[in-house]
Amino acid sequence: MTKDKIKQYVYIGQVKSETTRCKIGITDDLQRRLKEYNSITGKSKDDTYKYLFTCKVEDAKLLENDIKAEFRLMREKRSREIYFYNDDLFEKYVDFIKSHKAFVEEIFIKTDVQKEIVKIVKRTNPTLKERELSPKDIMQKAQKVKNDEFYTQYEDVEKEVEMYDAEIWKDKVVFCNCDDAVGDTEDKNNNNTSAFALYFIKNFEKLGLKKLICTHFSGGIDLFSQGPKGYVYTYIFTKTKNEETREFPKGYNGSFDDPLSLKILNEEADIVCTNPPFSRARDYWNIVINSGKKFLIISNFTNVKNQPYIQYFRENKVWAGYNRVDYYLTPKKQVTQAAGHWYTNFEIKDRPKYENMKIMPLGKIPEKYKEFDDKKTLVVNNNYIPSDYKKPFAVSVYPILSGVLEKGYKLVEDKEYVPYINGERQFGRVLLQKI
Ligand SMILES: C[S@@+](CC[C@H](N)C(=O)[O-])C[C@H]1O[C@@H](n2cnc3c(N)ncnc32)[C@H](O)[C@@H]1O
Repeated sequence: MTKDKIKQYVYIGQVKSETTRCKIGITDDLQRRLKEYNSITGKSKDDTYKYLFTCKVEDAKLLENDIKAEFRLMREKRSREIYFYNDDLFEKYVDFIKSHKAFVEEIFIKTDVQKEIVKIVKRTNPTLKERELSPKDIMQKAQKVKNDEFYTQYEDVEKEVEMYDAEIWKDKVVFCNCDDAVGDTEDKNNNNTSAFALYFIKNFEKLGLKKLICTHFSGGIDLFSQGPKGYVYTYIFTKTKNEETREFPKGYNGSFDDPLSLKILNEEADIVCTNPPFSRARDYWNIVINSGKKFLIISNFTNVKNQPYIQYFRENKVWAGYNRVDYYLTPKKQVTQAAGHWYTNFEIKDRPKYENMKIMPLGKIPEKYKEFDDKKTLVVNNNYIPSDYKKPFAVSVYPILSGVLEKGYKLVEDKEYVPYINGERQFGRVLLQKI
């Protein structure tokens, strides 16, 4: 049978109890595939698999590969088609599928397991075209994924902070301003203290800090069970002074952009250090970078190629810290994965990641890692960087996070560059040029 006579489908499916991930797969028989997933006997009701979205397509393999390229960072494991899931991501996956040239139509599926018509959650959602949205708008929407409820792990704070010269902390006021609550002070290892606060309290003397100021944010989910009132916690522990205070100023909600938080930032803080909420990262970066203060923060891995962040990299106001951060804790204290990275404006010395890059004349870069896109722009992959190429060329975020901007290259524009090769959309990159 020829390829176009076989029925081809793409589906998004999920195990009922696993709401933070989903499978995006292809099949020629949706009913059979669902039966296969649910055929293991002794499954509890919570382990049953259901479709969230199904559609008929023309070239399932092509679409599957494009999904893999587009949502590379959303894949849980490279070897499997399991992707992170939340409502916004789901919408993004569906939008991408429905606006792909291989998409034919959405379909209803009757499941044998649940004996009900599966609700196709976004069945009535118009396509990108119908909504007059471009893929870029959708990328920006993805930036607004509101998954702020992650705890940073202590080891990740420790691993990054200890990469810098100890001198940078000496006599400094550190400000942790995104819900870096401090719980029961008798038990500083408890779950109600942020890893940032805990790290700086534990290492206050060793780092020679002058003061630590942490705020508790009262809105949204109370990650650290600290109650509905915002507060400012201060800690000083030196040979001459030993002081710990917690103040609940009237009307203060602990938001990083509350006037009191801004006053602390501008008038007291020397160094800002936290993991800000993903959904407010844009405002957070704007405030912290424009404050002129030193900072060491965690944010999305792909900020390097996304507006509005890319301008800060181009203008050399921020660069990658040393480490990526892949694992966080959920409010239920389960480990979860999200692609984060440290960003800073502290000097980075002998970045170990320089070694990841392969800077060499274009002629020496293996053919399979370089190609020209439909606009005749050079695209290089796998951390290869041409040393003798004068025009702009496209790279993924990896060389930027490996420090290529410190090696005589500059970002060419303040936006993502999306190459098309033989009409096929590739994943987004940035344009670099040798200075
Ligand atoms: C990714 S979590 C990190 C929490 C903590 N800083 C840590 O690293 O474990 C982001 C936190 O910021 C809080 N948050 C949300 N909006 C905020 C705001 N406007 N100002 C300060 N914190 C905010 C969220 O409720 C959440 O607790």
